[in-house]
Parts: sequence; structure tokens; C-alpha cells
Amino acid sequence: MNPIPLSRPPVDDEIKRAVLAAIDSRQYILGPQCRLLEGELARATGVPHALLTSSGTAALWLTLRSLGVKAGDEVLVPSHTAFPTVEAICLADATPVFVDTDEFYTLDPVDAEAKATPRTVGVVPVHLYGQPVDLAAIEDLASRLGLWVLEDCAQANGATWNGRRVGSFGRAAVFSFYPSKNLPAMGDGGAILTDDDEVAARCLRLRDHGRIDKNVHAEVGFNLRYNELQAAALRVLLPRLDAMNDRRRALAARYAEGLAGLPLVLPAERASARHVYHLFVVRTSRRDDLAAFLKRHGIQTGIHYPVPTHRQPAVERFAPPSLPRTERLVEEILTLPLSAGHEDAEIDRVVATVREYFGD
Ligand SMILES: Cc1ncc(COP(=O)(O)O)c(C=O)c1O
Repeated sequence: MNPIPLSRPPVDDEIKRAVLAAIDSRQYILGPQCRLLEGELARATGVPHALLTSSGTAALWLTLRSLGVKAGDEVLVPSHTAFPTVEAICLADATPVFVDTDEFYTLDPVDAEAKATPRTVGVVPVHLYGQPVDLAAIEDLASRLGLWVLEDCAQANGATWNGRRVGSFGRAAVFSFYPSKNLPAMGDGGAILTDDDEVAARCLRLRDHGRIDKNVHAEVGFNLRYNELQAAALRVLLPRLDAMNDRRRALAARYAEGLAGLPLVLPAERASARHVYHLFVVRTSRRDDLAAFLKRHGIQTGIHYPVPTHRQPAVERFAPPSLPRTERLVEEILTLPLSAGHEDAEIDRVVATVREYFGD
């Protein structure tokens, strides 16, 4: 039996040709491929500015700095996210204020409001697993409390809320092109999308050592630029994003049908959202045992994430006493294999193996 990986990134001749052409161009950093891709990303998302960065984490840090956060500022963030979301807030000198999840595993707007203080300046909702947060509630909260919204779209490229793409709701948004993401590069990569001219201009200079002219550095930034080889590959894949997301949705529906009736909590979709299934996450109190069983049958699984960020040693000093829903969730979640590159037969094999585990 061939092993079934958690994710299978696309590789084909069209991508290889694009990368080879970028190699031949002898322009490797922020050249024409990057510029074209920035325009294409901005148009696809429906916002005026897109800036490529060396990773999603870099995009988060650049945007937070550009929003002007400073020591003492508090930023609302779900604990149930990838560590980089929280890390970037800390690196920008602000204080992460951890918020519990709602029933869709994303930031709970009610808990966010309860945690807001006069020092709160913004909120970073994360469209986790490919599902948009409750954007209506987040927009309402932000406008009532005067907060900026920075959408973390790392896991939800192409997802929509009431038919509009995520990344176009907040003051700014960040994306990741990590190889397992919905729009994958062959290495690290990220992007900032914003309709705010000042945020865009500041991100632009911070991305390149705070440079405003060839030899003039207006502030201390860093090197967080992007490269032509990855941009060339992403330009081939961006027009396929919607089709790749359709494929993810079709495989998720196949799982939902195949796993129905088992003692598993399956992912639920919000009514206003188009979920793009970056990850297919189920819940069971027998998680570790089921994962071990699947591993013995050559099926890779994951846990996103086993340790909530508010329990990470690096940020312990900011931890709230307890986030009960998050703490329970992390004991039960299991990610099953899913990507646009998986075959129907692979999903069927995972379904059959899970059914076998439950004695079905
Ligand atoms: C929700 C979320 N935010 C931010 C990041 C950081 O992106 P990157 O790995 O490109 O730095 C990731 C990916 O790991 C993520 O899943």
C-alpha cells in the first residue's frame, strides 16, 4: 500500500518551464515576475495593493509594524492558531491578548469583546483551516471599539464571505504560500494585501531595509523581499486557485459522506462562508489511538495544533488563566489527508480505514 501524505503540492511541466525561464532571466529578486504577481494578487483579491514577502510570518510582522503598533498596545488574537500569528505580534512589541474559539474553531467575537480594554488597538482574526471567521461580527466589533482588523488568510486563500474574497475585509490581510497551503510555492512565501496607501508604502520600505532611495534608509527595516523563481511558479498556479479549491471542497464532501454516522465530529460550514478546506479536521476523544491506527496503515495525519499558543513557553507571560473551549479542542482534533493533489481513491482508503477503526 502506498503511503498517503497529509498534503501533496502540485508539480508539472508548466510550473517547471516557468521556473526555468525565471532562472534564465538572471533577475532573481523583486523583478518582473514579482511585480506581475503582485498585480494579479491584488486583482484576484479586489484590493489596490499587494506586496510579496519572504513568508507569511514576515507579512504579519511588516503589517503590524506598518499599522504603528507599539509597546503597551494590546492585540486580540485567537489562541487556536499557528504560532507565527502570535509571534509576529510579540516581535512588533505589542501584547497578544488570547481569545477563545467559537463553534467553528475560529476567534469568538463575544470573548474578544470581553477581553478588550482601553489599550486594545486591533484584532487579528484567523480564517483557520480554510473557513472565514464570522466577519460580520468582527467588523461590527472593530467599528464599535475603533480597532483595526488584520486578517490572517494564511490558511484560506480563495475563501469567501458573502461571495467576497477574504483579504478584502480588514485594513490589511496577510497570506502564506508555504507548500501545503491552498496556493503553494516551492518554498516559503507570503503577501500583504491592503487598500490603505500608507500601510502599503510603509510595508514596501520596511521589506527592503527601510530604504526610500537606493542609498537612503528612513528607518530600520529588514530584508523580507521575495524572489523570482517562486513568483514565476505562483503565477502559474494563481489562475488554478479556484479550481484547486473546488477540488478540495469536493474531497471534503467525499469525506463527509463517507464518515457520516461515525462517532466523529465533522467540520461544519458557516452559512455565509465558502470554506476552502486548507485542512480537513475531525474531532474524537480517541484521537491519539485513531492517529496511531491510521499511521500503521500508511496514512499520515496531523494535529493543528496540539499545544494552544497561550500555553507555549515563549509567550507564557501573556497567558490568560484558561480558555476552556480551546483547551478541550486541542485534545480531540485530528487532521486527515487532503489537498488538491489527492486522488478520490486515497480519500476512500482513509474513509475505509477510519470505519475499520471504529469497528464498522
Ligand atoms: C494561520 C497562519 N498564520 C501565519 C502563518 C505563517 O506563514 P509562513 O509559514 O508562511 O511564515 C501560518 C503558516 O504556518 C499560518 O497557518
